[in-house]
Amino acid sequence: MTTKATPEPSQIAAMFDRVAPRYDFLNRLLSLGIDMRWRAKLMKLMPKTVNGKYLDVATGTGDLIYMGLKMRPMFSQYTGFDISPKMLEIARAKLEGKEKQVYGKSVEFLQGTATDMPFQDNAFNSVSIAFGLRNIAERKKALEEFHRVLVPGGRLFVLEFFPPEQTIMARLFGWYFYSVLPRIAGFFSDPAAYKYLPESVAQMPQPEQFARNVQEAGFDILDNKAFIFGHCRLYQLYKRTH
Ligand SMILES: C[S@@+](CC[C@H](N)C(=O)[O-])C[C@H]1O[C@@H](n2cnc3c(N)ncnc32)[C@H](O)[C@@H]1O
Repeated sequence: MTTKATPEPSQIAAMFDRVAPRYDFLNRLLSLGIDMRWRAKLMKLMPKTVNGKYLDVATGTGDLIYMGLKMRPMFSQYTGFDISPKMLEIARAKLEGKEKQVYGKSVEFLQGTATDMPFQDNAFNSVSIAFGLRNIAERKKALEEFHRVLVPGGRLFVLEFFPPEQTIMARLFGWYFYSVLPRIAGFFSDPAAYKYLPESVAQMPQPEQFARNVQEAGFDILDNKAFIFGHCRLYQLYKRTH
């Protein structure tokens, strides 16, 4: 696995703009739908705050926002935030036909970078980021930003690919993930973008280091689940109140 530096945010935005049209289709195909099961696990952990305000950073085509509308209908505000205008275009288009579901709620998709978000301090009850953190070079800054916009005691959910456990099964899956998957995806979409996928995972720290990073940013770890031999992890984090 190579460990190239994470590209500039403008290059990342351009890359996701290119993959946006085929993004949902490829996710479902290549993960055989497992990606949606992981998102549902995340959403099931989210506190059922009445009139809660929910922010999904690096929302992409808005999968988590739409899952939130279904599974957490007691919230009043759902904000999807992403750096790629094309991903957001697709997310917004999915609002069509959902008038009943969104009636009386605020659903918005805004563009910008996770390291400098246009939200007030303590503005959200829950924040999530799914498969987005590895694309952000200034990860520490992003974690501090998530901490700033959360209410004290609020939750941050991180779903992300990580360097896996050192087992035979993990290596076998790694072969699919790092060698086979980028080729299939590259055939249907932008080859460079899917070659970047394993490179971006290599940027992620080991779980022990990540635990230190989130603690330094002001979070306690409530829960850490590992999927597919540690290739994917789901963290539930709590914004410390002191
Ligand atoms: C792999 S996609 C994940 C999308 C979605 N969360 C999901 O689960 O399908 C990564 C997303 O992160 C976004 N992204 C990358 N860097 C970002 C940044 N600095 N700020 C906000 N979004 C960013 C990309 O535009 C892209 O939509």
